[in-house]
Amino acid sequence: MKILVTGGAGFIGSNFIRYWLKKYPADSLVNLDALTYAGNLENLSDIENNKNYKFIKGSICDDNLAYDLVQDLDLIVNFAAESHVDRSIMDCRDFITTNVEGTRTLLEAAKSASRRNGKIRFHHISTDEVFGSLGPSDKPFNETTPYDPRSPYSASKAAADHLVRAYWHTYELPITISNCSNNYGPYQFPEKIIPLFITNLLANKKIPVYGQGKNIRDWIYVDDHNAGVDAIIKRGRLGQSYCLGGNSELTNFKLTKKILSFMGKGEDMIEYVTDRPGHDLRYGLDFTKAKNELGWRPAVNFNDGLKKTIAWYKNNQAWWQNIKSGEYLEYYKKQYGQ
Ligand SMILES: NC(=O)c1ccc[n+]([C@@H]2O[C@H](COP(=O)([O-])OP(=O)(O)OC[C@H]3O[C@@H](n4cnc5c(N)ncnc54)[C@H](O)[C@@H]3O)[C@@H](O)[C@H]2O)c1
Repeated sequence: MKILVTGGAGFIGSNFIRYWLKKYPADSLVNLDALTYAGNLENLSDIENNKNYKFIKGSICDDNLAYDLVQDLDLIVNFAAESHVDRSIMDCRDFITTNVEGTRTLLEAAKSASRRNGKIRFHHISTDEVFGSLGPSDKPFNETTPYDPRSPYSASKAAADHLVRAYWHTYELPITISNCSNNYGPYQFPEKIIPLFITNLLANKKIPVYGQGKNIRDWIYVDDHNAGVDAIIKRGRLGQSYCLGGNSELTNFKLTKKILSFMGKGEDMIEYVTDRPGHDLRYGLDFTKAKNELGWRPAVNFNDGLKKTIAWYKNNQAWWQNIKSGEYLEYYKKQYGQ
């Protein structure tokens, strides 16, 4: 199978490429990534000489490039996105450009090629955030929950999901969508809460907790997410969405306490900061459909995954120390005033 992975130099995409080439070594993968602040080829340094892997620097918004790349493909897996809610609150232009217009560009390229050879499959990576926010005792989201995005990031992801579905209904482009919970694991850019806290603590710096830490997120280990995407690609029904949850809902405060305890630090390292505007209270995902139809369920227990993740950041300090300079410092100062 020949696959175009977009955004493969980011966190989940790079883990996906590693996962896929290990499981399906005969497949060939092209990684199209614009190398924004979040893209990092070091995430794939162990893969770069694999003869079935090729990197192309470019944007998913480039019509001509997308058209050229899709001609002899079997599958597109679209991870490329602007992915950080806080940055979308500061300025959402790039979110609309990449997440909406970029997805349209890829869909259009896939459609034009599919018309000739009838075979390009399009899998789109989405998020649980498109469903809005749950109350403490609401049932978790599932595939029938109406979309109600509330941040510029989730609105851009929701718009993309609608377009992907529109290409299925209008042009019969063979699509599937996965909506997943918050991912964690190796190679996650240290602006996101888990790697931010781990790397701050490794540097003996305080960790910024929004509000009172009452917001609840469901956590999925990145390889569990990628196994779910694999199951959808191999066994999912065309035109369908699948929720991939981690079965691990936690308040940010409980998450913080776990990180502190696993790293041998005390609560004095917490610094409570002004809450994120419009901060969604709770996300939770019911993955019954993926379990029943695909035989998929998350395999990694949260405590084990978190310990493994902490160990990875401890053992790969050069990776994150390189990142936590330059543009990152400006962003951090703007966001947390430090
Ligand atoms: N991280 C999570 O917890 C999470 C949860 C749910 C869904 N998702 C979705 O999963 C996908 C991957 O997320 P991530 O955390 O790995 O993101 P990330 O920010 O780590 O990586 C995004 C990658 O996309 C690339 N990119 C950005 N704009 C591009 C463009 N115009 N053309 C080509 N490449 C471009 C970046 O260079 C980067 O390598 C995204 O679609 C995101 O919305 C992420």
